Amino acid sequence: MENNANSLQSEAEAFLEAWRAHPESDPPSTLRHKSRVAEIVDEIEATGTYTHTPRELEFGARLAWKNSNRCIGRHLWRSLEVRDHRYLHNGPSREEHIIDTLTSHVRDAYRNGKIKSIISVFAPRTLGQPDPVRMANHQLIRYAGFEEVGDPDSRDLTKHLLKNGWKPVQKDDFTKLPWQFYWDEKPSSVYDVFAQQTDLAKEVKLEHPENPKFASLQLKWYALPVLADMALKIGGVIYPFAPFNGYYMGTEIGARNLADASRYNRLPAIAACLGLDTTSQRSLWQDSALVELNRAVLYSFDKAGISVGDHHNLGAQFEAFCTHESGKKREVKGDWSWLNPPLSGPQTPQFHRQYDNTVCTHTNFFYQTPLWQQENNLTGCPFHL
Ligand code: ARG
Repeated sequence: MENNANSLQSEAEAFLEAWRAHPESDPPSTLRHKSRVAEIVDEIEATGTYTHTPRELEFGARLAWKNSNRCIGRHLWRSLEVRDHRYLHNGPSREEHIIDTLTSHVRDAYRNGKIKSIISVFAPRTLGQPDPVRMANHQLIRYAGFEEVGDPDSRDLTKHLLKNGWKPVQKDDFTKLPWQFYWDEKPSSVYDVFAQQTDLAKEVKLEHPENPKFASLQLKWYALPVLADMALKIGGVIYPFAPFNGYYMGTEIGARNLADASRYNRLPAIAACLGLDTTSQRSLWQDSALVELNRAVLYSFDKAGISVGDHHNLGAQFEAFCTHESGKKREVKGDWSWLNPPLSGPQTPQFHRQYDNTVCTHTNFFYQTPLWQQENNLTGCPFHL
């Protein structure tokens, strides 16, 4: 207990120091800083934890994004809209309430296609107590994985939700998973929000800029990635449920989700559709198919008027961000293997440099074992809580 209080206090102090290193973000004055540290020390002594002010929560969530070594979109960190839902958990009609809150997040973030980054922060963890609210879902919008169809990455979660009473209206490649909450770490029923609100999750049907046959592959993806299973940590305080969204970089969909052999594995079908010679890998048909799929992703999102990044543009912006931060004596940390896109890495600045991958531990986003699979504890990962 002693030890926890000490590390919480030092992480709180490290966070406030980090804020002071960002004078553009209007940190507390030296005087206020000192009195705030004293306040926090007293509160930790009295209660075992401390409560962030709304401004600490806002800057803290933004800084956690800035500290996410694997993210290529971090130049936008200051624009993150932070929604304070710390007091929402529990009480009558809590399910209705949280579903409203999350559907508003999805709608507001989508913003008619001009995607806005938002984080909704729910109740913090108190040591020795169950987490007040969490979710089973990996992302708010995600496709199910059934035996024969769908996203293989969602198979275990899909099984879990079916066991918990989900009755899917249909089972195809792009069936959206329902939501399940955990109140005080106990599972709620399953809510098929997307079956009820069919216009909530916008999707983009993929077309190719030149080849009209491409559309017959009937590929699509959802517009909005909203990560719902990572823990947000600010100055030592852990928020186990704080769903956040950005917009997609095309390669996430075109070079991974739809292309990986262990995901939708669509390159063979695309090659056939494009008439590529697939008799030998040395024809590089996989590479050609990959490029055409990625062109289709960018073209189709653009045509639908929905924000999407490409790896060249995001790569250049990230590099400019690193240069700007170095100028302020705030070196941006990074994970080279993640900052390089899964397509044409050497055509981006990221390939040609090195990054210090030291993880800022007081304020960041961390993986955590989902409550529905607590038994398979992952350890040894630097990003794991
Ligand atoms: N790679 C994940 C996916 O394909 C999304 C991760 C977050 N991505 C983002 N652009 N914010 O669904």
